[in-house]
Amino acid sequence: MNQYEQVLEQLKSNPKTWLITGVAGFIGSNLLETLLRLNQKVIGLDNFATGFQHNLNDVQSLVSEEQWRNFAFVEGDIRNLEDCQKVCTGVDYVLHQAALGSVPRSIADPIMTNSANITGFLNILVAARDAQVKSFTYAASSSTYGDHPALPKVEENIGQPLSPYAITKYVNELYANVFSRTYNFHSIGLRYFNVFGKRQNPKGAYAAVIPTWTSLLLQKEQVFINGDGETSRDFCYIQNAVQANILAATASNVQESAVYNIAFGERISLNQLYQEISNNLKSIAKLEETQPQYRDFRTGDVRHSLADITKARNVLHYQPKYSVRDGLKEAVSWYVAEFNKVEFGK
Ligand SMILES: NC(=O)c1ccc[n+]([C@@H]2O[C@H](COP(=O)([O-])OP(=O)(O)OC[C@H]3O[C@@H](n4cnc5c(N)ncnc54)[C@H](O)[C@@H]3O)[C@@H](O)[C@H]2O)c1
Repeated sequence: MNQYEQVLEQLKSNPKTWLITGVAGFIGSNLLETLLRLNQKVIGLDNFATGFQHNLNDVQSLVSEEQWRNFAFVEGDIRNLEDCQKVCTGVDYVLHQAALGSVPRSIADPIMTNSANITGFLNILVAARDAQVKSFTYAASSSTYGDHPALPKVEENIGQPLSPYAITKYVNELYANVFSRTYNFHSIGLRYFNVFGKRQNPKGAYAAVIPTWTSLLLQKEQVFINGDGETSRDFCYIQNAVQANILAATASNVQESAVYNIAFGERISLNQLYQEISNNLKSIAKLEETQPQYRDFRTGDVRHSLADITKARNVLHYQPKYSVRDGLKEAVSWYVAEFNKVEFGK
C-alpha cells in the first residue's frame, strides 16, 4: 500500500472535519466528492463568483444520503473576516481553494482579483490560525514562475510575475512564510499546473483550454489556438491534485511553510492537446475531425511550462497516477455525457 492509500484508510477509520473554500468550483467540488466518499465531515464556503450550485448538486447525486449529511454549506465570502471565522471553527484541515482564477480576468480587473486573492487569503489565514486548525493547505499557482526561463520549474527558482493574478498567488506564498516565522503557523502551498477534469467550467471568456475546446468541438464550433500551437503545458488531471491536497493536509512533521509543484511532470504542446481531445471525441462521440484556427499570442501567457515534481514526491509522497492521456479520456467522456444536462455559464 502506498502512502496515499494508507492515508485514505486512516481517514476512513478516523474521520476528520475539513473546510473547503471555493467548494462550488471545479477543484473544490472534486475535493468535496472525494472527502464525502471517505465519510469525512466537510464545511464548504463559496460566494458563487465563479462556482455553481450545479457542481454541488452533482456531488450530492454521487454520494449516499448519509455522506451528504456530513456536508455543511455556507454561502459567504472570504473577503469578509467574519465569514472566515465562522467556517474555521472546529475544523481540523483547511483546503483553501477560493480565489478568482484566470490571467486575463486579472488583467481586465486587477482590483477585483486582488481583493479576493490577497485580502481573502489573509482573512482565511488569520481565521485558521486563530481557530488552531491542524493544517492549512492552499492553492498556489505555477504562474508564480513568471518569466523565469528554466525548464523544468523547480520551486526555489522563480522569475518576475507576468500578470496581476501571478502577483496575488505569489503574495499568498509570502504571507504563508511570514505566518510561519511570526506566529509559528505553518502551511503548505500547492503550485498547481493547469489542472483539468470533470466539472471545470467550459463557458465564458476566462474558461480554461481543455473544457473550452472540448465543448466547442462538441457543439461543432471553431476552435482557436492562441499563437502557433507550440506553447506547451504540464496539464494535471484533477485526481492528481486531489491526492496532493489530502497528502499535504495530513502530512506530519510540517515545521515550516513550504510550496510544492503539483503536476504530472510531462508537457504537451497545444497542437498535441488539440489532437488528443479530437481523437477522444472521435472515439467517444463519433465526431468528425476538424482543424483549429491560429490567432495571436495572448498577453501574460508563459510560453512553456513543465514541473519538476521531485520535492512533492520526496516530501509529500505524491505519486500522480493519471497521465494527461488517462485524464483526458475521463474528462472528455464526462463532458460528452454531461454537456447537455448541465447549465454551464458565466
Ligand atoms: N484550475 C487550475 O488549473 C488552477 C491552476 C493554478 C491555480 N489554481 C487555483 O486553484 C483554486 C481553485 O481553482 P478552480 O480551477 O477550481 O477555479 P473555480 O473558479 O472553479 O473555483 C474557485 C471557487 O472560489 C469561489 N470564490 C471566488 N471568490 C470567492 C470569494 N471572495 N469568497 C468565496 N468564494 C469565492 C468561486 O465561486 C469558485 O467556486 C484557485 O485558487 C485557483 O487560483 C487553479
